[in-house]
Amino acid sequence: MSPNARLVKESFSLVEPVADRASAYFYGRLFAENPSLRALFPAAMGAPDDRVFRALMKIVRALDDPAALSPFLARLGRDHRRFGVVAEHYEAVGAALLATVRHFTAGSWTAEVEAAWTETYGMVAGVMIDAARAEARTRPPWWLAEVVGHESRGPDIAVVTLRPAQPLDFTPGQHVTVQTPRWPRVWRPFSIANAPRADGTLSLHVRAVPGGWVSSALVRHTRIGDQVMLGPPGGTMTPADTGRDMLCVAGGTGLAPIKAVIEHVIASGRRPGIHLLFGARHAGDLYDLPDLVRMAADFPRLRVLPVVSDDPGFSGMRGRLPDVMERLHSWPDHEVYVCGPDAMVDETVRRLRRSQVPPSRIHRDGAPEHPVETAGGPAS
Ligand SMILES: Cc1cc2nc3c(=O)[nH]c(=O)nc-3n(C[C@H](O)[C@H](O)[C@H](O)COP(=O)(O)OP(=O)(O)OC[C@H]3O[C@@H](n4cnc5c(N)ncnc54)[C@H](O)[C@@H]3O)c2cc1C
Ligand code: HEM
Repeated sequence: MSPNARLVKESFSLVEPVADRASAYFYGRLFAENPSLRALFPAAMGAPDDRVFRALMKIVRALDDPAALSPFLARLGRDHRRFGVVAEHYEAVGAALLATVRHFTAGSWTAEVEAAWTETYGMVAGVMIDAARAEARTRPPWWLAEVVGHESRGPDIAVVTLRPAQPLDFTPGQHVTVQTPRWPRVWRPFSIANAPRADGTLSLHVRAVPGGWVSSALVRHTRIGDQVMLGPPGGTMTPADTGRDMLCVAGGTGLAPIKAVIEHVIASGRRPGIHLLFGARHAGDLYDLPDLVRMAADFPRLRVLPVVSDDPGFSGMRGRLPDVMERLHSWPDHEVYVCGPDAMVDETVRRLRRSQVPPSRIHRDGAPEHPVETAGGPAS
């Protein structure tokens, strides 16, 4: 480990136990000294739940692993374009950060420690700024999109179709972040539920979570003709295109990226067998079943298996998705795509690994390198 990395780690280890207070101090300094920067952040900010400060912890921990750190920082830098962050802002954030660490390490802050922090922050900011600049040559920071479809699929779920004002290229299985006019500067990721279409539209499957800001805005307060903003597509659950048979395990709106992958595979002309387990608690929550049944009628190699966990009256398959998956078959030769609530995905992946499915054939979203998740953001 370099001497600078060691000094930064040692001093930051004194800040981590008081991260909540340090985070509040950091923003206090940042906004007191640069009031204009406040406007870039959402109106309501929960300091103890702060993703920015937690990402700093992650970066400091990874300082001796540049191979892992650089892609993470580059991604973070590109992600910051949609917040309106430009290169000049980094100096102010760096000054507030150093002031924070100095404040919370009072006794051990030396000229040497300060030099280590200055150099390290310069490296971090440099990677983020360069990545943002490089992407600015080819992509806008965000896309304006018009709501062209809004279909209610039950009390809490809507399929929202959007037409971006500029072309938005994505790979099936990816997600975009969405900002609604109701909650300015608040972004949340939603999976794109279709393969690229000729008319450029994209559909989202949104479940309104209780008290959820963006999901409720999209399900309950969005109408055709409204405008939303979209961040650049990201995510790693993209089609492997190996031609192998596929197992898809989708819980709730986790169906969205899986449907996009299946549409892509069908459109590609390949003809793998596809098993789709689509699970929900109650039969009424299988919000996209009629469409899936239509897809299966057009492409008989697709088998749609609805699974319901909490509805004793359901006449089809009953149980939790990982259990049903194991009961049905073993899947050692399949490409497997899994999406849904975190606990269900983790358990499904654990069972697949136990039955010898190689990790390279298990595809899930929310890969650890994505800043949204690693920084402790929301999950589907
Ligand atoms: C990669 C990725 C893809 C996603 N794709 C989709 C998608 O296709 N469709 C979709 O509907 N959602 C999806 N999500 C979840 C989505 O991004 C939001 O987290 C979710 O809609 C809640 O945001 P919110 O602003 O409405 O709630 P917030 O205002 O962030 O949260 C309000 C309250 O709800 C709780 N909460 C947050 N999420 C959940 C949850 N899932 N279940 C129960 N309580 C919750 C919070 O803890 C908080 O108390 C995805 C998330 C990720 C990381
Ligand atoms: C080392 C430098 C930085 C790190 C590690 C960092 C980290 C992060 C992380 C992890 C997020 C959450 C990302 C997401 O939700 O997708 C974030 C959001 C944000 N960052 Fe940074 N950031 C840095 C520099 C900056 C700078 C220079 C600014 C400019 C003022 C800035 C402004 C913002 C804003 C406005 C948000 C959105 C906040 C929100 O949604 O609550 N960041 N940052």
